[in-house]
Formats: sequence, C-alpha cells, structure tokens
Amino acid sequence: MQPKLAQLVTFIILVGFSVPTMSYKVEPLPDSYAGLGEGPHWDEARQSLYFVDLEAGSLLRYDYKQNKTYRTQIEGETLAGFVLPVEGNAQEFAVGCGRRVVIVNWDGVSPSAKVVRTLFEVQSEFKANRLNDAKTDPRGRLFAGTMRYIGDEFEHRHGELYKWEAGGSVSVVKSDVGISNGLAWDEKAKKFYYIDTTDYEVKSYDYNFDTGVASNPKVIYNLRKTSPKDHILPDGMTIDTEGNIYVATFNGATIYKVNPSTGKVLLEIKLPTKQITSVAFGGPNLDILYVTTAAKFNQPAPAGTTYKVTGLNAKGYPGVSLKI
Ligand SMILES: *[C@@H]1O[C@H](CO)[C@@H](O)[C@H](O)[C@H]1NC(C)=O
Repeated sequence: MQPKLAQLVTFIILVGFSVPTMSYKVEPLPDSYAGLGEGPHWDEARQSLYFVDLEAGSLLRYDYKQNKTYRTQIEGETLAGFVLPVEGNAQEFAVGCGRRVVIVNWDGVSPSAKVVRTLFEVQSEFKANRLNDAKTDPRGRLFAGTMRYIGDEFEHRHGELYKWEAGGSVSVVKSDVGISNGLAWDEKAKKFYYIDTTDYEVKSYDYNFDTGVASNPKVIYNLRKTSPKDHILPDGMTIDTEGNIYVATFNGATIYKVNPSTGKVLLEIKLPTKQITSVAFGGPNLDILYVTTAAKFNQPAPAGTTYKVTGLNAKGYPGVSLKI
C-alpha cells in the first residue's frame, strides 16, 4: 500500500468505525446505605441530595461540601416514599407516609424528625396501598403515585397517579396503575414522562405547563423485550438538559440513557449492584448523576449503597421545591 493510501485507510477506520467511548466513573457516597433507597432530589440552595430509606421511614441528606450523609427517623412512621423540600420553609418537607402526604419538620442534621401536619390522604378504601415515587413539576406542583403494597402489584392494578396544587386540590392524573414510578418533565419539548413499572415501559404525555394537564400518552421506550424473562423493571427516572431520559432498572444493574424522540438507547450506565431504584442530577454544576439502590430481597453488599456517577458529559436540572 502507498503510504498516503495507508494513511487514508487508517483515517477512515478511525473515524468511521470507532465507537465513542464514555469513561464515566461510579463511586459510593459515604454512609449512604438505605435498605430501599429512593426519591433522590437535588436541593440547589442547600447543595444537598435528599433521598429516602423507604421501608424504614427515614430521610437522608448528603451534604456535598461536607461530603457527609445525615439520616433521620420520622417519629411514629414506618414508610417514607419520597422527600420534597417545601418552598420558603427550610425545615419543611413533603413526605409520602403510607397513603398520606405529610409535612415533616427536619433541620437536616438531627437523628429524629416530626410530622407536623397532613397535607392530604388518598385511597382510604385501599389499606394495602401506599404512596411510592413522587416529584414536583417545574412549576412546583406535586405529582405522587401509589402502588399496592401487599400481594402482586402486577396482578392488581390498584395504584393511581395524583396531582396536588397549592390551595389544596387533589386530582387523579391516571388510574389503573401497578407501581407508580419515574417522573420527568421537559419544558422545551412540552412533555411529561412517566413510568408504571408493571407496564415495563416509559410513556410520554403532552404537557401544558400553565395548567399542569397531561394528555395524549404514547409509549416511547419499551423494556418488554428483556422482561419478564429477565425481569428488568423500569423504576425511577430523570432527564438531562438535552432532553434525554435516564431510566433506572430494578434487577437490571443498569441505567439506560434514552433519546425519547427515537426510543434509542444512547448509553448503558453499569452499576455494581442489581436493584437500581432512581436517579437525579446534582452537584454544583448539575453534572453528577446520583443513584439510589435497594438491598431488599436479600441482595448482598454493596446493594443499598447510594452512588454518584461522574464523567457523563451531561447536565440535569435541580429539584424543584413544592409550592404550598
Ligand atoms: C468523601 O468521603 C469518602 C469516605 O470518607 C471518600 O472516600 C471520598 O474520597 C470523599 N470524596 C470527596 C469528594 O471528598
């Protein structure tokens, strides 16, 4: 081969066939164990990641500057489905305790915290149900969903997704839900993304940010090809500033970065444990992906560890406090 031709061939091989490599790094957060970690929420003002240990009724706060995790037990409660800071009150958080959304007072440091009032209760006729994942939309409205807590959630679709707005009105966004999970909004694309784990898929809705109304559901990502055989379940979810969604998979040891317009998987982020429950961007530059996991069903260590993933070359949005 002529030197010039050889160079050209080498060039074509390098440019045309090299797969872009992504060198991300996965590291544990100190003292971040949660038997069922869930609901990561980055609070920009406090530079802290809040999350829950769901079946312990505990709230956790990882302080970025101190590189330290604080943990509290909510007095008298056994369940904490989510933790969302209340706007304008540094010590108040909306928490899902069973079928109630309560306001908890916590200074972010003390080992115990107190329920100060109940915001609302859902499904009083379904004692076996409990609130699961919840999030605020970009305007501070609360979206919280339920699941059946006892028995087979895949058989009994008694869950619902609710919306609560300042002023106190609760409405049903969706009924016929198995396990209400991941939530994400994209203001640029005017979309709301939602996961019912028992559907093995992610749906997109057209979303009106002025009224908070979601309509026109469409399946945009389907994990059924690998489930239920492998039983890889979509769980929590977040979104980056380019509009790509990140889907945590329970049993999958993987977070899928997906382009919601094409349904294409752009990246598989691998974790050292199987039950990945949820994800949220945070950190001073909003470019760290925080990941909660679960140790339930007798998973060995490091199950239950909360991780940070860096080097993803992506940024997200901070969590939004609840408007009351
Ligand atoms: C945070 O603390 C852990 C445990 O002590 C340590 O391994 C890690 O390097 C620290 N990270 C930072 C960013 O200081």
